[in-house]
Amino acid sequence: MRTQVAIIGAGPAGLLLAHLLHRGGVEAVVIETRSQEYVAARIRAGILESSSVELLESVGLGDRLRAEGHEHRGIYLQMPGERHHLDFVDLAGRSVWVYGQTEVQKDLVAAGTADVRYEVSDVVLHSVEDRPYVTFVDSAGKARRLDADVIAGCDGSFGPARAAAAPDERFERVYPYSWLGILADVAPSTDELIYAWHPDGFALHSMRSETVSRLYLQVPNGTDPADWPDDRVWAELAKRLGHGQDGWKLTPGPVTDKSVLPMRSYVQTPMRRGRLFLAGDAAHIVPPTGAKGLNLAVADVALLSRALVALLVEGDSRFADSYSDDALRRVWRCTHFSWWMTTMLHASGDPFDAQLQLSQLRWVTTSQAGATGLAENYAGLPIGL
Ligand code: FAD
Ligand code: DHB
Repeated sequence: MRTQVAIIGAGPAGLLLAHLLHRGGVEAVVIETRSQEYVAARIRAGILESSSVELLESVGLGDRLRAEGHEHRGIYLQMPGERHHLDFVDLAGRSVWVYGQTEVQKDLVAAGTADVRYEVSDVVLHSVEDRPYVTFVDSAGKARRLDADVIAGCDGSFGPARAAAAPDERFERVYPYSWLGILADVAPSTDELIYAWHPDGFALHSMRSETVSRLYLQVPNGTDPADWPDDRVWAELAKRLGHGQDGWKLTPGPVTDKSVLPMRSYVQTPMRRGRLFLAGDAAHIVPPTGAKGLNLAVADVALLSRALVALLVEGDSRFADSYSDDALRRVWRCTHFSWWMTTMLHASGDPFDAQLQLSQLRWVTTSQAGATGLAENYAGLPIGL
């Protein structure tokens, strides 16, 4: 088999890249180890920055997002006894949208622009420096070879592309806490997201729709979700989110999903090796506190699709040559922002840290300069194509 771009991974990075290449007249084949149903149902990110929304809209993927997604002007930042609203539209001129990664994934599948081979195994990348090809076993058990001009590694943090890219440097930070996340069939108890600092640990009230809530609790690493029956989760959320404060109530409901998410930062450089280009979680991981993971994947493939269309249609290698440096500027901005939000909001157990965090939160919630800095980063920078 031969194609122009062999894309490893049919997550948001891989499928969106295939869609953008299709629009640019470049052929691609996507290979994915999981089934289409499994990939579509994976519950992950929920917030899109305005630049991600604009990009999706500009390539015909915005209809359901505009109809069923919810635009938020900002977020609430909370400390015990105080809840402050930060209005990103007033502060930075940009909003964010609540629209689940599952929905983005469904829209990409519905677009029908990607030739995806699901349920493959034994994926190996070869000769990435000059004449790249991928070998794998297809869903029928047949050994296959896919030759390509370029390989795009969009296979997340556990795929083979990041090692095949033989990075010059790896940067990593593992945090001493995880998130316990629940999805619940209950109307959100808030109109916009609440990020809550609490001495017993961070809590976040997010949502997916008018009838589905998504909530998170800081828990120690290694936590077993079985130790957190639903009643315990709701009681802890009520305490940390301030149930009863100024008449605010957290309404519990049936929990439909519960999982523990460890937190780390990771960046490997460069994001290119010869004819292998990395995008999304294959190249970098952020802790979820800044809601950046999915948005970074979107920004990477916006840059990468432009680079590959220029390279393969026009024979112009300028954007391909600058891809890694261009993408990494945003990656490091988001890596810093995600680290900053994470370390400002999670309890470390150290009373000195707690006082610094509260001081920082007071500054962010009372100073126009502090609030604007958070707003600009959260609502996202323009993709800058
Ligand atoms: P992925 O979505 O990981 O897609 C990679 C794809 O490659 C997968 O479909 C995988 O099956 C496939 N693959 C793996 N190995 C191979 C192989 N050998 N061959 C072929 N295909 C392969 N971000 C937020 O902003 N907020 C959140 O709340 C949030 N929650 C998350 C929860 C979890 C459990 C995880 C893992 C991530 C979460 N993220 C969150 C991050 C966000 O979901 C990711 O940043 C985003 O999915 C990145 O997209 P991607 O396409 O780069 O990678
Ligand atoms: C969600 C996840 C995040 O990490 C975040 O910062 C905001 C929202 C969510 O899953 O809804």
